[in-house]
Amino acid sequence: MTVNGKSYERLVEARMMLADFLRGELDLTGTHLGCEHGVCGACTILLNGEAVRSCLLLAVQADGAELLTVEGLAQGNELHPLQKAFHERHALQCGFCTPGFLMTAFAFLKETPNPTEAQVREAISGNLCRCTGYLPIVQAILQAASEPGEISSKSVSTPPARRL
Ligand code: FES
Ligand code: FES
Repeated sequence: MTVNGKSYERLVEARMMLADFLRGELDLTGTHLGCEHGVCGACTILLNGEAVRSCLLLAVQADGAELLTVEGLAQGNELHPLQKAFHERHALQCGFCTPGFLMTAFAFLKETPNPTEAQVREAISGNLCRCTGYLPIVQAILQAASEPGEISSKSVSTPPARRL
């Protein structure tokens, strides 16, 4: 698979979950595990351009796929506009949910570059945050969306679709 533009080849147990693979095998611990059963959204990553919950996928299901994790958003020391907006709007407190929100928002803004507040709220409705009350997160996503061209500049090229 390719993760954040880098190729990896590993032999893994068939039962290993993708989130555990990213964290344990590749040391990409920015992808967080909260509920581990598809409810909280903390483990959200992009797989072939689509937001998915890496706690619900087996690592082997990502064989040959192109993945983007939160570590792949920044360009060197330059934060992605979404990350900057989260920082400026104080859209995190403990930060545990933040990688999932960022990846969900990233995928959403690629499809909906000029969203309404209602669309943003709908888009993040599958991500849980116990700290912020959501308002600063919504404001941060709207702020990032107001920077034309910035979001799509970091899009992931998508190989032929695979149904998982
Ligand atoms: S850890 Fe995957 S959805 Fe909660
Ligand atoms: S910032 Fe703490 S759970 Fe969201």
